[in-house]
Amino acid sequence: MNRKLIAGNWKMNGSLAANDALVKAMLADIGVPAADVALCAPAPYLAQLQSLLTGSPIAWGAQDVSAHDKGAYTGEVSVDMLKDFGCRYCLVGHSERRQYHGETDELVAAKAQRALAGGITPVVCVGETLAERESGDTELVVRRQLAAVIHAVGHCISEIVVAYEPVWAIGTGRTATPEQAQQVHAVLRAQLAAATTHPKRVRILYGGSMNAANAASLLAQPDIDGGLIGGASLKAADFLQIVAAAA
Ligand code: PGA
Repeated sequence: MNRKLIAGNWKMNGSLAANDALVKAMLADIGVPAADVALCAPAPYLAQLQSLLTGSPIAWGAQDVSAHDKGAYTGEVSVDMLKDFGCRYCLVGHSERRQYHGETDELVAAKAQRALAGGITPVVCVGETLAERESGDTELVVRRQLAAVIHAVGHCISEIVVAYEPVWAIGTGRTATPEQAQQVHAVLRAQLAAATTHPKRVRILYGGSMNAANAASLLAQPDIDGGLIGGASLKAADFLQIVAAAA
């Protein structure tokens, strides 16, 4: 069985002072976690996380990465830059990037490929909107999103992390039931099995209003290998309870 991964996604939240307090509160109580733990911060704070978290049980990562190597791409951050600040992970294709920044399946796949090539583990987010779920297209959508990444990275797919995040559950307090989530995770696992001989090596996280109260039942599902945590990662106690639930 995979060691679970609990990753926080701070989104566009935080400040030097707030991050310092939050991270120190987490480090004070985390002990020796039974799961891998990571925090994905806005790019300007990666240096701060590097200095606070080096040598600790918490890894860190970014929330996006450029599909390009370097050059005239104003505002973008390259994988080598993330490496300079010790990032182990990088979110790719979060639904907020797809929705508000027009990221296509192809762009998301190119970003995942770039991250992998640069030695950073992409956490590739997939998930359906409420309208897509209601019209019975959930499987179609998540399979299409993952297929683009499989096409781009080939057998290296066993080195990514996938995060299933139903868009209707993100930040809404409306969580997928463990059964609903497991059903989609099983679909993704089967798709991975057709692409790699190591489908079980790929951790498939659930994200979308995961919290201290519902984490244990979600994480008990056979194909749920961890969580991608938004709101609850901004509170040390809540986040650590989710980490404990992954034991
Ligand atoms: P949430 O966000 O936990 O606040 O729903 C999850 C995410 O968007 O990664």
